Amino acid sequence: MNKLPVIIDTDPGIDDAVAIAAALYSPELDVKLLTTVCGNVSVEKTTRNALQLMTFWQQSVPVARGAAAPLLRPARDAASVHGESGMAGYHFEPAQYNTIDKPAFQAIYDCLMASDTAMTIVTIGPLTNIALLLTQYPECKSRIKRVVMMGGSSGRGNLTPTAEFNMAVDPEAAAHVFNSGLDIVMCGLDVTNRAILTPEYLARLPVLNRTGKMLHDIFSHYRSGSMETGLRMHDLTAIAFLVRPALFRTQACFVAVETQGEYTSGTTVVDIEQHSGKSANAEVALDIDVAGFQKWVADVLALAP
Ligand code: RIB
Ligand code: CA
Repeated sequence: MNKLPVIIDTDPGIDDAVAIAAALYSPELDVKLLTTVCGNVSVEKTTRNALQLMTFWQQSVPVARGAAAPLLRPARDAASVHGESGMAGYHFEPAQYNTIDKPAFQAIYDCLMASDTAMTIVTIGPLTNIALLLTQYPECKSRIKRVVMMGGSSGRGNLTPTAEFNMAVDPEAAAHVFNSGLDIVMCGLDVTNRAILTPEYLARLPVLNRTGKMLHDIFSHYRSGSMETGLRMHDLTAIAFLVRPALFRTQACFVAVETQGEYTSGTTVVDIEQHSGKSANAEVALDIDVAGFQKWVADVLALAP
């Protein structure tokens, strides 16, 4: 099978951790680079978490540290959802690896230029690194097959009434990416709020394998849903789209990211009914086969050590 080479830009993050597990152990994917960004917690912590995950799985995927703050705004975190460490609940061994000696946007550029095929970038955190990449190296767009992101919403938000966290942390970066002309797939809250792991499945995780035990421990501290009612797998949904696109219904839409609103900055304005007269700039995931998603998750996590 020809594996799809991917770069993952991430802010681990408990749902990032399970998304990275699925990416590493999906037979369809070849994770070439992991880049970290300030998001759920500081970039110091998201980078430490990424390195500890690579150590946990003894994976030598290069990790490059990214932006320490949004392009213009002060950082906002989600420690209330992921814990102060960003991956509360499990005692990870100290990382055996260091980051590579270049910033994330540079590492992404170098990875793109070294690849003999255009690459897919999966973003599961704020888009700061991607905006920096496009600003510094606009010519690299031809080397990007598409950006598959967890972010946004055609309806309500989860950081503000109308804005989803990844978009709301750095609206200027998000606007830059949506205005870039790149092929974008937006897996927003419309589908990720429904991408639930059930209490019954969560209860089986500790005996699945070493990864299942670790995930169960950190899931116990994850506050997007609950162990009793089910946990929302926001970032894992973006990986699911990559390897099981048939689980999703998407629509080509014009998407604008609000950057000026007093109450609405970071809102993804998704023009589903084409009122704007503007051309579509994203494929927006509007529906998900939840049972199919849950089966895929069970299958792929069973492949982990
Ligand atoms: O809104 C959910 C997103 O914000 C996920 O990427 C989660 O990890 C947080 O970063
Ligand atoms: Ca994330």
